[in-house]
Amino acid sequence: MVGLAATFTRCVGALAILSPFGSAIAGQVQKPFLQVPLSAFKHRDDVKDIFIESYNAYRKFAFGHDDLLPISKNFSDGRNGWGASIVDGMATMRIMGLDDFFNEAVDFVGKIDFSESQTPDTVSIFETTIRYLGGLISAFELSGKQHKILIEKAQQLTDKMAFAWETKNQTIPWRLLDFSTNTPNLGTSNIAEAGTLDLEWNRLSLYTGNDTYRRLAEGSVRTIAGLTAPLPGLAAQGIDPATNAFVGNYITWGGGSDSYFEYLIKYARLTNTNDNLFADTWHTAVDSSIKNLLRKSKVGDHLYLADRDDEGKIVHISSHLACFHGGNWILGGKLLNNDTIVNIALDLVEACWNTYASTETGIGPEVFEFISEDSFQPSDTHPNAQQRQFFQKHGFFITASDYILRPEVLESNFYAWRVTGDTKYLDRAASAADSFRKFLRVDSGGYSGINDVDDANINKGGRIDDTESFWFAEVLKYLYLTFDDPDHISLDKFVFNTEAQPFEAPPAKPVYGSGSPLPPKGPYVMKVADIPLPAISPIPALQFDPFPN
Ligand SMILES: *[C@@H]1O[C@H](CO)[C@@H](O)[C@H](O)[C@H]1NC(C)=O
Ligand SMILES: *[C@@H]1O[C@H](CO)[C@@H](O)[C@H](O)[C@H]1NC(C)=O
Ligand SMILES: *[C@@H]1O[C@H](CO)[C@@H](O)[C@H](O)[C@H]1NC(C)=O
Ligand SMILES: *[C@@H]1O[C@H](CO)[C@@H](O)[C@H](O)[C@H]1NC(C)=O
Repeated sequence: MVGLAATFTRCVGALAILSPFGSAIAGQVQKPFLQVPLSAFKHRDDVKDIFIESYNAYRKFAFGHDDLLPISKNFSDGRNGWGASIVDGMATMRIMGLDDFFNEAVDFVGKIDFSESQTPDTVSIFETTIRYLGGLISAFELSGKQHKILIEKAQQLTDKMAFAWETKNQTIPWRLLDFSTNTPNLGTSNIAEAGTLDLEWNRLSLYTGNDTYRRLAEGSVRTIAGLTAPLPGLAAQGIDPATNAFVGNYITWGGGSDSYFEYLIKYARLTNTNDNLFADTWHTAVDSSIKNLLRKSKVGDHLYLADRDDEGKIVHISSHLACFHGGNWILGGKLLNNDTIVNIALDLVEACWNTYASTETGIGPEVFEFISEDSFQPSDTHPNAQQRQFFQKHGFFITASDYILRPEVLESNFYAWRVTGDTKYLDRAASAADSFRKFLRVDSGGYSGINDVDDANINKGGRIDDTESFWFAEVLKYLYLTFDDPDHISLDKFVFNTEAQPFEAPPAKPVYGSGSPLPPKGPYVMKVADIPLPAISPIPALQFDPFPN
């Protein structure tokens, strides 16, 4: 084994860097030769059972619709009625070896008419990209690229979504599109919605040979990354597609911004591009965050990334959504061969897990806050007496106590396991799975959200009658893979989209980025495209050079 590593080291010459153990190369993400203990396979099979149980409830009461309503045994169609749970869940079915479910899903996809929204007419470009487009592409890859129908449907869908780029010189798409008229809803977008399309649209270009998809999605990210941000690398949350200008100065790793940052480094990895823009902008964002946003809770020394408001004031808030950051920084730190980033990331993972470990159900809340040395002086009403007491005990306090089947804490836990091999992460995943079975399962066999993670008497807080498609796509996939053979969907061979849809990645380059965070760039200047457009194109949006020097 060591011999193999040494041979490879010679091949890539001076760029490869040996770890203290002599086996890792730079850019390698997973701990080499990692294995799960045999006991993990029992937990893996338990997670598979949860999938079968809850998906069967979906099939029984909601098949063909977007979500199961597990309590009323009914359905809802908040994602345009194309069967979100099926399409979003396909890669998980494939990974778990649930071939009957998977084949049924392929048949179902063949019958979806993506040219019109079933209900309502308004389509979210972001949600549709990460769940439907991402789900179709991942299912195509994971099933040996044999079901061409998955790509045909993906293309039908994305040809419609491309109308979100409306005017000749528009680089940032509108966030919502009316599918019956192909007209966008004009209005402010955010960097998450505008900057979380490029992994999926890039892969669609690869499989269709039509480069327009990549250029549109990548152009949006290039535009955001080229604007002068409130802090270097840390783009503001709001953005206006009509003017290519930020709206406000709010900075967060949480919702509305999160996956823009996430995709910067993942795009560099998935494409192995020699253009350092993506990896360097990501590193600049991380560097700025360490300097400006990183705080330690007064109780328990929990490390967290604060927000920064429009006026530049630090806001000591975090969220379940934001907890993807630990996993993302682990991945990026490994790709940049930067242990400083990896080590901070592991502390962020620790603080996010603490939100699970501290509640009566063992499940973490939607939104929470911290108090650090530079916090506001707590007022009489905020935090209230109960929250203050909770803070003294746990080092954070809860401001929104619900859990709606989100994945991010377990997602980062999965990265931490695959990279460190510390079995405490397996124990945590097992504990979360136990809590889900105990507190979320209802008699339809489905799994519901809950209103108060800190009350083991679920009837008191009440349940939330919805199983979001990310339960099937993300929560159960990350849990399953945590317990599975680490060579299965290795982080060195796949890049997950923000909906946990794995995409095949080429072998990693030894080095990503230029090696140092960049100084802030000037505004992105649009140029006339030097790549000819197709003769007849309803998408006249490419009036800029997608590959500026
Ligand atoms: C199930 O949901 C549909 C769509 O919202 C609704 O029309 C119907 O009344 C519901 N059925 C029951 C039994 O609640
Ligand atoms: C490529 O996709 C774009 C966006 O949907 C479309 O406008 C264009 O016609 C396609 N090009 C070809 C050659 O099919
Ligand atoms: C697009 O071009 C028009 C006309 O030249 C101009 O008024 C508008 O500001 C431009 N939009 C952007 C986003 O640059
Ligand atoms: C790793 O990243 C941190 C944060 O940006 C930076 O301060 C440090 O110089 C980097 N280390 C190396 C070896 O590049």
